Amino acid sequence: MVSRVIPVEPFDLVIFGGTGDLARRKILPALFRRFRGGQMPAGARIIGTARGGLDTVGYRSLVAEALHEFSGEGSGAEINAFLQRVSYVTVDAAGDTGWLKLREPIEEEQGPRVRLFYFSVRPRLFGGLAERIYRHGMARGARIVVEKPFGKDLDTARELNQMLAAYFYESQIYRIDHYLGKETVQNLMAIRFGNMLFEPLWNSQYVDHIQITVAETVDVAGREAYYDRAGAMRDMMQNHLMQLLCLIAMEPPAKFDSDAVRDEKLKVIRALDPVQPHHIVRGQFEGDAAAGLKSYRESVGNPRSATESYVALKAHISNWRWAGTPFYLRTGKRLVARSSVINVMFKDAPHSIFGEDAGRHANLLSIRLQPDEGITLKVTIKEPGQGGMRLVDVPLDMSFAEALGQEGSHPADAYERLIMDVIRGNQTLFMRGDEVEAAWAWTDPVIEGWTARGDVPKPYVSASTGPDDADLLMRRDGREWRGIRP
Ligand code: BG6
Repeated sequence: MVSRVIPVEPFDLVIFGGTGDLARRKILPALFRRFRGGQMPAGARIIGTARGGLDTVGYRSLVAEALHEFSGEGSGAEINAFLQRVSYVTVDAAGDTGWLKLREPIEEEQGPRVRLFYFSVRPRLFGGLAERIYRHGMARGARIVVEKPFGKDLDTARELNQMLAAYFYESQIYRIDHYLGKETVQNLMAIRFGNMLFEPLWNSQYVDHIQITVAETVDVAGREAYYDRAGAMRDMMQNHLMQLLCLIAMEPPAKFDSDAVRDEKLKVIRALDPVQPHHIVRGQFEGDAAAGLKSYRESVGNPRSATESYVALKAHISNWRWAGTPFYLRTGKRLVARSSVINVMFKDAPHSIFGEDAGRHANLLSIRLQPDEGITLKVTIKEPGQGGMRLVDVPLDMSFAEALGQEGSHPADAYERLIMDVIRGNQTLFMRGDEVEAAWAWTDPVIEGWTARGDVPKPYVSASTGPDDADLLMRRDGREWRGIRP
């Protein structure tokens, strides 16, 4: 399989928060990999900014360290060549210091260039940054990239959208949900709309239910204060799982372009019914003294915390395609394995010609998003041997790593793809303002409901599959979760 590397236009990428965690862990290593991949044209420039204490030489050594720590690839010579593209300007994102200096490299006459500003800073700085970029004459034709959390509820998301819209058109705003940049998440669209096989069956007539699981083994280390304010519902469900739900449930867009895809996703979110209180389960992980693991409450230093590190819920989409097919979504930290998977459970065949003894058999399509990306289709066949017609379910299994070799086993990191898409001006994999607001409009009543009820999350054992109540949620419907396996 040969990958096609199409160099992007020359660009100036300004990173606000250029010394921060996200820049060091994700943005800079992603840029370096694209540089190594030959996608960065000569003359592309990366300008790190922060409030102070550095110059270009100092910043370059910070970048080199970050690449060693978080990228772990490339020779010294390659890193040096990349660093020549990197410079630093001291800019106060919340004040006026440094802005004139920032304009200098950007204004140098260099022919047409793409200009982008990456807001890798706290959301409360977004409005001020947008205003200053505009006031200093750098907004025209520029693109801005903003990171989650995009608000903490509908009101704050609206406020943020309005602040950005005061200085930028929607076509200039790139709201990142890094799940959309994952290779296999995009594969959801390829599997659904590139094959004739699945789409005719992709509705409530044939699909019994769909399970979406994003399980993590990590806990909240290093982000305690943020996480205890957010919880799993805001941190994962409102954005990443919602995006997966949209891609699984949406109607085929007329074409693969940004507004066509995002229009269809928005329709899914707007068709979601409010979630019933008894269809929600929240959990908090317990400690494990033998393994030296703190409980959630100990980890965040809040002995009375009622924030969930796990949430499971049953959602319904009220439209022609999905009425009657429930979607079960769950996500949590400190679970038994890191595994993101979507299971599409088909209905039993309407009539068994093999009689009662053959048992009940239903097809299952499992789409593994990470790790071990791939798909498994469970089909029913005859059990080999004598003794009549006994049926057995067997997997048709494909691991993308095995099927696609090198490229399947090393898919590009989400940030590599997303940053290159911003430079190309392709918004398909970014959330539109109305989409984010619709997702909050669905999420807010869920959170308000449990807050008003004084709901306390159920404890669950570290390295388990979550609280028992989540199993009950399924069992009450005569169903069960698929296991969580690495
Ligand atoms: C982030 C969340 O958006 O996604 C984290 O804030 C979570 O809490 C992370 O751990 C999961 O991303 P990934 O790519 O590791 O599945």
